[in-house]
Amino acid sequence: MAGKGARAGSTRQRAHPEAPPRAEHRSAVTLRVNGEERTLTLDHRTTVLDTLREHLGLFGTKKGCDHGQCGSCTVLIDGRRANSCLLLAVAQDGARITTVEGLAAPGPGGETLHPVQQAFLDHDALQCGYCTPGQICSAVGMLGELAAGHPSLVTAPGSRPGLTAEEIRERMSGNLCRCGAYAHIVAAVQDAGRAPGDAAGRPDGDPRHLQDGATP
Ligand code: FES
Ligand code: FES
Repeated sequence: MAGKGARAGSTRQRAHPEAPPRAEHRSAVTLRVNGEERTLTLDHRTTVLDTLREHLGLFGTKKGCDHGQCGSCTVLIDGRRANSCLLLAVAQDGARITTVEGLAAPGPGGETLHPVQQAFLDHDALQCGYCTPGQICSAVGMLGELAAGHPSLVTAPGSRPGLTAEEIRERMSGNLCRCGAYAHIVAAVQDAGRAPGDAAGRPDGDPRHLQDGATP
C-alpha cells in the first residue's frame, strides 16, 4: 500500500513539476478591525467572514449558510451592517469593520456592554446563541438606520419610521434564528433603542454614516 501511495504522489509531482507560487492571486489588504489596523496578504477569493475567523481568530462572527441567506455572519462595515460571507476582503481594503467582539466599550473597571448586548441579556433573547452575534450587529446597524430616518417596507409613505415591533421585525428579517427566539429579540431591540444614551449612537451604529443618501 505504501508503495502504491508513493507512486501516486510521484505521479502528481510529475504532472505539475514547476507549479508557480500563485503570488498573483494574493494581495495585501489593510482592514481596521475593532479599532485595530490589520494588514494581511490574502487570496483574492477570501471573504471577509473567513478573514475574520481564519486569519484574525475572531470567532464571534458565525458562519451559517455561507450564502447570504441567514445573517449569522453580520458585521458592521463603515457603520453599516453587511453579510460578511458575501464580501471579498480584497474589495474592502481600507474599510472599518466592527464585529461583536468590538462593540463593548473598554473602561477602567472592565468593559461595558453595548446597550444592545445588555438588552439581549436582560431579555433572554437567545437560546443556543449561534445567531446572536449576527443579530446584535444587525440590531446596532438597524437602530442607526432608524435614527437616520431610513424607511422600510412597512413604513407608511411620507412618515418617519418609529421603533415599533413591526419595523423591528421587518428590518431584522434577514437574521434568522433556528431556535425561534424572535419574540425576545424584538423586545431586546426595542428596549435598546429606547435606552438613554441611544444605542444607535454607540460605535458603528452612528447614524452619521448613513446620511447623504446612503442606502441602508
Ligand atoms: S453565513 Fe452569511 S448570510 Fe448566512
Ligand atoms: S438562539 Fe439559536 S439560532 Fe438563534
